[in-house]
Amino acid sequence: MESQAEINDKKFLGELLTLKEQVKFRERFALPQDLRDVVIAGMGGSGIVGSIFKELYSKLPVVLANSYELPDFVGKGTLVVAISYSGNTEETLAACGEAKKRGASIVGITSGGALAQEAEKVVKIPSGLQPRSALGYMLMPLLNSFEVCKDGSVEETYGILERMDNDNSFGEKMAEEIFKEKYIPLIYGTSPYSSIAYRWSTQFNENAKLMALWSNFPELNHNNTMALKASYRLDELYPICLLSNKSERIMRRINATQEVTGMRFRQIIEPQGTSNLAQVMSLMHIGDYLTYHLAKLRGIDPLDVSAIESLKAKLK
Ligand code: F6R
Repeated sequence: MESQAEINDKKFLGELLTLKEQVKFRERFALPQDLRDVVIAGMGGSGIVGSIFKELYSKLPVVLANSYELPDFVGKGTLVVAISYSGNTEETLAACGEAKKRGASIVGITSGGALAQEAEKVVKIPSGLQPRSALGYMLMPLLNSFEVCKDGSVEETYGILERMDNDNSFGEKMAEEIFKEKYIPLIYGTSPYSSIAYRWSTQFNENAKLMALWSNFPELNHNNTMALKASYRLDELYPICLLSNKSERIMRRINATQEVTGMRFRQIIEPQGTSNLAQVMSLMHIGDYLTYHLAKLRGIDPLDVSAIESLKAKLK
């Protein structure tokens, strides 16, 4: 008989395998006329969708709301996209309620819960996954509606993710290195996909139950750089660079940072494919697998989010 740990492990791995199918999700919503600005409300595994979208779309102002409140400018002419996988996250529901009072247009992206009742328009997504594993279902309706992806992106992305599903030994090898020395990951991103560095850190937190640090080039050259020279326990860090921008200035910054601080990246990882979608998803999926393998090595259930759930229950 399979143990609970084996069942959970299989379930989590099964969730990772659905990402390539998720990018085929074709749902979209109509944009309101006279749209002036966009606010994306969401927390955790749902909130990260807004951060990724904001880096991919810049035709209109996009502001993220990752708490109970909305910015003062929200009103008629604003589209508030409230994203909550469960549909029951209190911060997101509060933002949605506030959007209603201000006369903004509201679209909810959710698998159900109270948000499915609250929002004016709802994009229903499949239930039964961990929110962090449903990123494709939550992101694609935004990309489809704002026409962000060029033709062929979905097919290219599917092929890359499928190859990664068949061979994720790169992530596994990194997991082994981190596990062996009990390193703390330090993830540095580069625009236009800086949000993926943050996503990696949250996957380390939730899947592998490990603290992880993150920042972005060039911003980190104005603060983190000092700590890279003088912090405690620098030899316990595992520095990774997600290199989505190979411009001459960024490459010079990466090299100069290593020279000035003495820090050496263990890995400099480039995205795959040519489309924005393929690049974002390929960079992200390496982190998904790495953190899954690390959880396994640590004997930890990658599916478990019981502390987050207990906290939510306590606040009810
Ligand atoms: C991710 C996860 C959390 C939730 C967050 C918000 O898998 O479990 O980060 O995403 O607590 O909940 P939802 O996504 O339901 O709004």
